[in-house]
This record gives sequence, structure tokens and C-alpha cells, in this order.
Amino acid sequence: MNLVLMGLPGAGKGTQAERIVEDYGIPHISTGDMFRAAMKEETALGLKAKSFIDKGELVPDEVTIGIVEERLGKNDCSNGFLLDGFPRTVAQAGALEDILAKQDKSIDYVININVDKDILMERLTGRRICKNCGATYHLVFNPPSKEGVCDKCGGELYQREDDNEKTVSNRLEVNVKQTKPLLEFYSDKGYLVDIDGQKNINEVYGDIKDLLGSLNK
Ligand code: AP5
Ligand code: ZN
Repeated sequence: MNLVLMGLPGAGKGTQAERIVEDYGIPHISTGDMFRAAMKEETALGLKAKSFIDKGELVPDEVTIGIVEERLGKNDCSNGFLLDGFPRTVAQAGALEDILAKQDKSIDYVININVDKDILMERLTGRRICKNCGATYHLVFNPPSKEGVCDKCGGELYQREDDNEKTVSNRLEVNVKQTKPLLEFYSDKGYLVDIDGQKNINEVYGDIKDLLGSLNK
């Protein structure tokens, strides 16, 4: 099962990805997570990515495409993968087609989680993430049972640096601009499926499961 998850910042890609990879046993490939891991380790990639991420800009295509190509070449992707947050530009989408063609693979679905841009600010500024296992919470929409503590592993929750109001505004603006041509690209190819991301988290996941149930892979 070869899947791509699309959606504006805060649409719920990471939240749904956690559930999909657990149920379907495919690797979760999030370019955002890969960049944050590199930033934490202060590698050359991390330092480069940080200069864009802190401003809410996209990391340049050549950097992003390189790390995805390397990741998709790993053995655990042989039975499928879930790309989250990649591609984000038409150039990245074209590169992905080439990478997959070389591996004799193709995308099954591009799942676009559709959410009105006006509600994303609240979702992002209220988001909290587990330092230990990466699970995602929301202060209002998906709070942990005990404030500041992960339900799954007891880890401490933190707020992402790019989840402040100023950076979020720019992230939204940048991503809205890139999204339209990307949706057209995938709609033309027949991969695109829209999912209503304004329902609650479990309902959104129910709709995704209904879709994936039709794929026997
Ligand atoms: P990335 O980490 O991918 O961030 P993003 O796209 O901005 O998306 P988010 O992770 O913020 O949101 P999400 O859709 O995963 O939402 P979540 O599930 O957490 O990228 C970060 C940066 O890295 C980019 O800005 C860019 O600089 C760079 N980058 C990454 N990929 C790149 C690429 N391909 N090219 C170039 N640069 C790239 O949910 C958000 C909150 O809402 C949570 O608190 C959650 O609990 C809550 N929530 C989720 N679903 C619901 C629901 N249905 N109802 C109510 N609340 C909900
Ligand atoms: Zn945790």
C-alpha cells in the first residue's frame, strides 16, 4: 500500500498517520519529522533545514527530494509506505514519480485531508507533542488524561517551535500557494481522494479506513 497524505499545516496528517501505520504496518515517512530529528542532532541537514523551518518557509526541493529518495530505498518500504508532508511542490511530485518508476512502484492513493484554513491556527497553537514517542495531542480537541504527560508512554509534552502565531501564519500562506497546483497534478493522475478533515479525529480515521479497505494490499 503506497500512500501519500496531503493537507495544510494542522489538517491532521500526523494524527491520522499514527493510526494508519499502526493498523497497516507500513513505515511513516514524514519529512517534517526527519528535519526535526536532524535539527535536534544539529547535523548539516538539520542546520540547513532550521533556517527555513523557523521562518515557516519550505526547505528547498533538492534537499527534500534527496532525503526522501534515500528513505524510500530502504528495505522496510518494500511492502508500502505512508508519505506525510511530501510532496509539497509540483517539482517534488514529479521527482517522486521518477523515484517510484525506477523501483517499479506507483502511488495507490493521495489522501488530501481537507480543512478550512481559518480553523488551522487554533489547531496548531494548541498542539502538544510527546518528547519521547512523538504522539500528538491538542489542549482542547485531544487532551491527554493528565496535563503535560503522554497517555501512551508517560513522556513529557512540548510545543513545537514553529507552532507560534507568527510562524504559523507564514506556514499557512506558503502552503496554500503550493497546494492548488499539487492537487491538480494528482487529480489529473487519478490518485486524489478528498477526506473531510473537519470531523472529529476518530470520524476522519473511519473515513480513511473505509477508503483503504477497498485496497487489498
Ligand atoms: P511538517 O512537520 O510536515 O508540518 P506541517 O505540514 O506544517 O504539518 P503539521 O505537522 O504542522 O500538521 P499536521 O497536518 O500533521 O497536523 P497534526 O496531525 O499534528 O513540516 C514542518 C516544516 O518542515 C515545514 O513548514 C517546512 O519548512 C518543512 N518541510 C516539511 N516537509 C517539506 C517538504 N516536503 N518540502 C519542503 N519543506 C518541507 O494536527 C494538528 C493539531 O490539530 C494537533 O494538535 C491535533 O491533535 C489536532 N487535530 C488533528 N486532527 C483533528 C481533528 N479532526 N479535529 C480537531 N483537532 C484535530
Ligand atoms: Zn509518548
